[in-house]
Amino acid sequence: MARDKCVLAYSGGMDSTISIVWIRENYNLDVVTLTVDIGGGPELEGVRERAASAGAIESLVWDVKDEFARDFIVPGLKAGAMYESVYALSTAFGRPLMAKKLVEAARQVGAVAVAHGCTGKGNDQVRFDAGIKTLAAHGEPLRIIAPAREWEMTRDEEKEFAARAGLELREVGDDQRVYSIDRNMWGLAIEGEDLEDTWFSAPEDAFSWTQAPDQTPDQAEEVEISFDKGVPTALNGNEMGLVELIDQLNLLAGSHGVGRVDHLENRLVGIKSREVYETPAAVVLYQALAALETATLARDQQRVKAQLAPIYADLVYDGRWYTALRENLDAFVSSAMRYTSGDVRVKLYRGSSTVTGRRSPHSLYDFELATYSTEDEFDHAAAVGFIDIYSLPARTQMKRQTMRDAR
Ligand code: ARG
Repeated sequence: MARDKCVLAYSGGMDSTISIVWIRENYNLDVVTLTVDIGGGPELEGVRERAASAGAIESLVWDVKDEFARDFIVPGLKAGAMYESVYALSTAFGRPLMAKKLVEAARQVGAVAVAHGCTGKGNDQVRFDAGIKTLAAHGEPLRIIAPAREWEMTRDEEKEFAARAGLELREVGDDQRVYSIDRNMWGLAIEGEDLEDTWFSAPEDAFSWTQAPDQTPDQAEEVEISFDKGVPTALNGNEMGLVELIDQLNLLAGSHGVGRVDHLENRLVGIKSREVYETPAAVVLYQALAALETATLARDQQRVKAQLAPIYADLVYDGRWYTALRENLDAFVSSAMRYTSGDVRVKLYRGSSTVTGRRSPHSLYDFELATYSTEDEFDHAAAVGFIDIYSLPARTQMKRQTMRDAR
C-alpha cells in the first residue's frame, strides 16, 4: 500500500537532507521535496540527485523569482517597509511565498503534510506555520512537520544520523566557522558563530555580496534608477525586468561596498539576536524611491505613509503577510504612489549611497514658486496675512495665559 505523502521545503543542505530520512522514519510518510528558486544564487545544482539519494520519491524545483519580486518585494519597497529602520526583510518576504508554494505543491501531489527546516527559536517557523495554516484553511487539513524543531539532535548527533542513513554530506573543515546564512535576491542574512558576541566586529570573510568599503574603487559611480508608480523599471535608462534590475543593482552597489547592515534585532519570539545583512539593491532602491516621493507626494501623504511604513514592516516580519490588513495597507500605498514615476540619481562611493538628483513629470516642485530669481511668482505680500492668522492662537494664548503667569 502506498504511503501518504509529505512535501518538504528543501534547500539541499545537511539538515534538509537528513529531514527526508527522518520524516520517513518518524512519520512513515513518503517525502516529495520542493526547492523554490527565489534568487540570490542558491545552489540548485544537484539538488534533485541529493534528494533522491536520501530517498525522496519526487523532487520539484520551481523558479518563482518573478513572483517573488513582483508580489512580495515590490509591495514592501513601495510601502517603505524596513524592519527597525534597517532590515530590508529579505528572509521575511521569502517565507510567505515558500509557504504558499508548499501548500500548492501539497495539493498538487495529494500530500497530507508539509515540512520545513526551521528551528523552534526563530521567526521563520512563525512565518511558515502561520502562512501554511492560513492558506490551507480551506479544504483538507495539512499537518505541519518541522524536523529541526522536533528532533532534539545536536550537531554531532545529526552527523551520526546522516552516517547511519548512508548520506553523503559535503563536509566543511572543523576549523571553519559556519555561519547560518539565508539568501535570496533581496538580500543575505548572516548569523551565529562569532557574531553572537555583539561587540565583535563582523570579519571580512563573513561578507559575500559587498566589498569592504576600503577596497572599493576610488571613483564614485552614479546610477540612475527609473520608477513607474513606485515600481523600479530601468537602470541608467535601460528598461529591464525586476529580477534583472535587482540582480544588477546588487552587483553594482555591492562593488562599492553599499548595503552592509549590522543590527541587534528584536525577534518575534522575544529574544534579541545579532544579525548581519547584505542588501545592496534594497538599500539603494528604498533610498531612491523615498527621494522620488519627496517630489511626488504632498506633505500629508508623506507623513501618513511614513507612519504606516513601520506597521507594514512589523507585519511582514511577524508573519502576518496573509492578512486583510496587509491588503488594506497595499491599497493605500498603491493609491499614494499613482504619481510616483520618474528618475533618481544615486552616487555610490565607499560604502555609502547618496541621492544627487530626482525628477518626475508629476513633481509637485514648482520652479516659479520656489525660485529666488526674477522669475519668482510666489505672492510675498500674501504671506503677511497668512502669518497673522496662523500665529493668532499662539498670540492669544501668550496674552491670556503665559504672559499673565510671568507677571
Ligand atoms: N533575522 C532575520 C529574519 O528573521 C533573518 C533570519 C535568517 N535566517 C538565517 N538562518 N540566517 O528575517
